[in-house]
Amino acid sequence: MISYLHQPSTGRLFDANTSDKLSLEPLCLDERILGAASCGIVLSDAGKPDMPIVYCNPAFERITGYSRQEVVGRNCRFLQGVDTNPQVVEQIRQALRTEQEVKVVLKNYRKDGTPFWNELAISPIRDAKERVIYFIGVQTDITSQKQAQEELRASHALLKAQQEADPDGVIVIAPNGQIINYNSRLCQMWQVPDDMMKSSDKEEFLECVLPLIAEPLKVFSKVEYLEQHPPLTHKDEIQLTDGRIFELYSTPALSATGTCYGRIWSFRDITQNKRTEQQLKQQAKQERLLSCINQRINQSLNLNEVLNTAVEEVRKFIKCDRTLIYRFNPDWTGTVDVESVGEGWMRIVGTTIEDDFFKNPEVISFLYQDGYIRVIDDIYNANLSPCHIELLEKLQVRANLVAPILHGKNLWGLLVVQQCSGARKWQQQEIECVRKLSIQLSMAIQQAALFEQVSAELKERQAAEAALRKSETKLKEKATQLEKTLRELKQTQLKLIQNEKMSSLGQLVAGIAHEINNPITFIAGNIDHANQYAQDLLELVQIYEQHYPQPAPEIETLTEDIDIDFLREDLPKLLSSMQFGVNRLETLVASLKNFSRLDEAERKCMDVEQGMENTLLILQHRLKPEASNIQVVKDYGKLPPVDCYPGQLNQVFMNLLNNAIDALNSGDEQADKNKGSASTELSFPYHAPTPTIWIRTELSERNSVLIHIADNGCGIPEHIKEQIFDPFFTTKPVGEGTGLGLSISYQIVVDKHEGHLHCFSAPGYGTEFVVEIPLL
Ligand SMILES: Cc1cc2nc3c(=O)[nH]c(=O)nc-3n(C[C@H](O)[C@H](O)[C@H](O)COP(=O)(O)O)c2cc1C
Ligand SMILES: Nc1ncnc2c1ncn2[C@@H]1O[C@H](COP(=O)(O)OP(=O)(O)OP(=O)(O)O)[C@@H](O)[C@H]1O
Ligand SMILES: [Mg+2]
Repeated sequence: MISYLHQPSTGRLFDANTSDKLSLEPLCLDERILGAASCGIVLSDAGKPDMPIVYCNPAFERITGYSRQEVVGRNCRFLQGVDTNPQVVEQIRQALRTEQEVKVVLKNYRKDGTPFWNELAISPIRDAKERVIYFIGVQTDITSQKQAQEELRASHALLKAQQEADPDGVIVIAPNGQIINYNSRLCQMWQVPDDMMKSSDKEEFLECVLPLIAEPLKVFSKVEYLEQHPPLTHKDEIQLTDGRIFELYSTPALSATGTCYGRIWSFRDITQNKRTEQQLKQQAKQERLLSCINQRINQSLNLNEVLNTAVEEVRKFIKCDRTLIYRFNPDWTGTVDVESVGEGWMRIVGTTIEDDFFKNPEVISFLYQDGYIRVIDDIYNANLSPCHIELLEKLQVRANLVAPILHGKNLWGLLVVQQCSGARKWQQQEIECVRKLSIQLSMAIQQAALFEQVSAELKERQAAEAALRKSETKLKEKATQLEKTLRELKQTQLKLIQNEKMSSLGQLVAGIAHEINNPITFIAGNIDHANQYAQDLLELVQIYEQHYPQPAPEIETLTEDIDIDFLREDLPKLLSSMQFGVNRLETLVASLKNFSRLDEAERKCMDVEQGMENTLLILQHRLKPEASNIQVVKDYGKLPPVDCYPGQLNQVFMNLLNNAIDALNSGDEQADKNKGSASTELSFPYHAPTPTIWIRTELSERNSVLIHIADNGCGIPEHIKEQIFDPFFTTKPVGEGTGLGLSISYQIVVDKHEGHLHCFSAPGYGTEFVVEIPLL
């Protein structure tokens, strides 16, 4: 209640109680006080009807926009508008009626129509007799405050909505341990009743929560540590006893200036994520395992290696005590082919197991089914027959998974996963893994069988091929051998023929020479005597004629008959011609002897020119004008004696000269036939009109003698040039040529004398052979 008002003239307060009715002037005059006030102040006369305003201060004018003149005498309600809360107005009305103080906030309007929030306090002013004479209203414009409040409320509501929408449970705890904020998700996650949270006590919250945590002490100490170290943020995972996993995130709630208002604890249920993650991990691991085994299957064709890898990897993956592959025998007993055993458990590889279970046709037909897996979590709880349990006990098996391995349509064996340490609830994923693996192994077995078959076929084929190659090689060897033998045979034949030719010709020549020689000696020795005798006889006839000029008629007749005068004249001529003949015969014999050289089979020095002349002499009959009219042009160089086999070299000359004569005798027809575009430079004028043989000898720069024998005969056609030295190659009619001449010559020159035999021929024009014999 306002009891005192300022007395502006005196500057002192006057006692309102002392006056009956306070005069207005002194109340309003002290502009210094009221004018300086920041609140609007208005005074209404309680005694007048409708309580008109009697005074307002400058702050009122400033707030409302009305001047004092405009408001004095009016009721204050003009400040109200359509939006002014009627309940609040009623509240004022009530207070005024009951002469009570009232404090309200209501919407008012300024003169310009803009609204403002008015925090209004109205108090009655009483006189000394306690009668209300005035009401004083104090107004504060709280529009901006109200706005800020409104905004704060809005943002608070937003925050709350956000918090509630958050999938995480959030709690904010002040440094003093008071819960400042939390959302309903938190209560739900931690199973805390909302009532308890309302108590806002951290300790109570912890008491409720800690029993749910798997390791409460660890978590608790972390909470404490964080409370002691406000700036720290922390992230962690909390394992709950019921299996859930929460991710914890704690961070200090700091103001912009760094003041710490508390700590935010945010919890996220990551159980499902963790499970999915775990499952994915497991799945990835399983895929890795399967792909590893698959890779093995593809890389290795060694079945044993694949099976060993499979059991090893499966045991690692499933973390069981034993994995094995059991292979069926035809009588449905089976053997453990490969296994992987954990430490401390019995090894059973190689054991033959007779399990009656597999003798049951129903079981077998089940096993044929694709994807069938026998799952036993505990042998004592699986309805097994006592003897089956006994068998498994013997093998230390407590739980197992059995999957069939098929080979095509046949049951090949089993993939068995065993737990020995105790019963085990097999997980779906594990069962699935074993199932997939058993299919893979079926494939591997199929592949291995195929490989075995293929490699067996391959081996067979390789063996056949090797045998074929061997026999082929043998055949080739034989053919080569035969070829060689044939070649050798030809050579031998050639040599034989040559020897034969040589020796028979030599013998013939020698025989003839010998036979001729005797009569020639005989004739030659007697020619002189015959000459002497004839002269003596002629002298005697002459003396008779002198002494008997008239001979008897018988003598005269005979003298005329024999033409004695001609006889006398001719006889000496005849005898001398005989002498000439004998001389020629003697030369011929010498030549024959020289040619045959039977006595000279060894190397000897030979006069090439003489050898050639002798050969020509033997061939005289073929060169005579009546035979061929061949001209022989000789050009002998000065040669040293040549160390050689003279008889053989003469043979060469004879072969070459014979061929030249043959070529010259073959006629123009043959020459025209042979004529080709190819023309070799020959060292002789083969265009000569008459059939000619040129013989030239010379010393070469390479320390050898060269014997050229050329002819302007038919020449050698291009296509047979390569063959002319082959034994038995001839172009001559059957019976005329043996085809041995050049091959023998070649052998004599090249093999025997280490020389060369060259042939140049211009087909249709002529041929030149060059014999080159090295000088030693
Ligand atoms: C001293 C005094 C000051 C007042 N100031 C205001 C004011 O600032 N704003 C307002 O809306 N009402 C104000 N009122 C209230 C109104 O004048 C009026 O009493 C109210 O509207 C209730 O009366 P009604 O039902 O006749 O309108 C004031 C009243 C008194 C006595
Ligand atoms: N001077 C030549 N001119 C043309 N052709 C020739 C000449 N010399 C050899 N020949 C060809 O070479 C072939 C082989 O000659 P080679 O002397 O070896 O055997 P041939 O003369 O046929 O028989 P053979 O000499 O045994 O009586 C001849 O048949 C002939 O066709
Ligand atoms: Mg010949």
